[in-house]
Amino acid sequence: MFYNENCISAAKKYLKNNSVDLIITDPPYGIDGDKLHKHYNRNENNVIDGYVEVPNKEYKNFSIEWIKEAERVLKPGASIYIVSGYTQLRHILNALSMTKLHEKNHIIWKYNFGVYTSKKFISSHYHILYYVKAGLKPTFNTYSFYSDNEKNDSGGSLNYLDREDVWLINKEYKRGKIKNKNELPKFLLSKMILYSSNPGDLVCDFFLGSFSTAKVAIGLNRKACGFELNKNAFDYQKEQIKLISAGELLKKFRDVPPNKFINKGKPMKEKEIKSILEDYSKLKKNKFIKKIIIDKLSEKYGRGYWSISKIINNNNNKNKNINLFEQ
Ligand SMILES: C[S@@+](CC[C@H](N)C(=O)[O-])C[C@H]1O[C@@H](n2cnc3c(N)ncnc32)[C@H](O)[C@@H]1O
Repeated sequence: MFYNENCISAAKKYLKNNSVDLIITDPPYGIDGDKLHKHYNRNENNVIDGYVEVPNKEYKNFSIEWIKEAERVLKPGASIYIVSGYTQLRHILNALSMTKLHEKNHIIWKYNFGVYTSKKFISSHYHILYYVKAGLKPTFNTYSFYSDNEKNDSGGSLNYLDREDVWLINKEYKRGKIKNKNELPKFLLSKMILYSSNPGDLVCDFFLGSFSTAKVAIGLNRKACGFELNKNAFDYQKEQIKLISAGELLKKFRDVPPNKFINKGKPMKEKEIKSILEDYSKLKKNKFIKKIIIDKLSEKYGRGYWSISKIINNNNNKNKNINLFEQ
């Protein structure tokens, strides 16, 4: 399901309405007279020739056309992640605003070794626009990497940190290896795929380049499809992708331990609130500090830290108000 054709006409030809579970794609930069490679310290002989650029003046309509197709082929509830630099971001945002796709997040991907400049700040981030198609509940696997209760050394929730919208992910170095001009790192792709799809889902990339999205999707036991106009890249990568076996990347990710907060998000009855407050005052009499008490209670009641803390704070405020009133 890979086509060496223009993604706009090929999507019309080969992809049915509502047929794709997830799109992850990285359209051409649209930088006229691309000189980006001059800023990178790499051997351009290893970069596959024939990258197809889109002229600046065509970028607006080009974005409208391919994003319209992407919207059509996504299933209801399916997600799309578009990776973009700053130069053409406004055209992509404009094209997205012409669809019925809903914005979920505007993610910043911060990478190492930005494009070197000495007379201004060094650009070292990309934008990732994460949108969903309405109609069904989107797939979002909240506990893809960390369970609810895993903490870092400073006591911060790893799950929370992993789901912040600024991602620090390094680019991969492929010294001496054949590569595309702008290959996305496997870990970045894995993150989007694991959070927003399930095994067996169809993942599509409109601009395959080195087929990185498709390779990672297959490695994570998803199906893959997509388009690439550059014949050199297409011919080389369509052979390379045959070397990937389904699910081979899954072993790189650990099994996430079960969540302790099994009641998180469930409505809380009066009886439970009363019992939490009674436990709190007992533990307080035993001179435990508030943070430790809340940790103990969230474990006991299978509730998140903040929901226990909210109950305690609300109760404290209520008591304060009563005291003020009585004075
Ligand atoms: C930024 S690169 C994608 C890089 C890819 N994500 C990777 O990790 O290797 C964009 C790719 O889109 C291709 N391209 C440009 N216009 C296209 C079109 N209309 N249809 C399909 N591919 C196109 C370019 O040749 C280039 O390989």
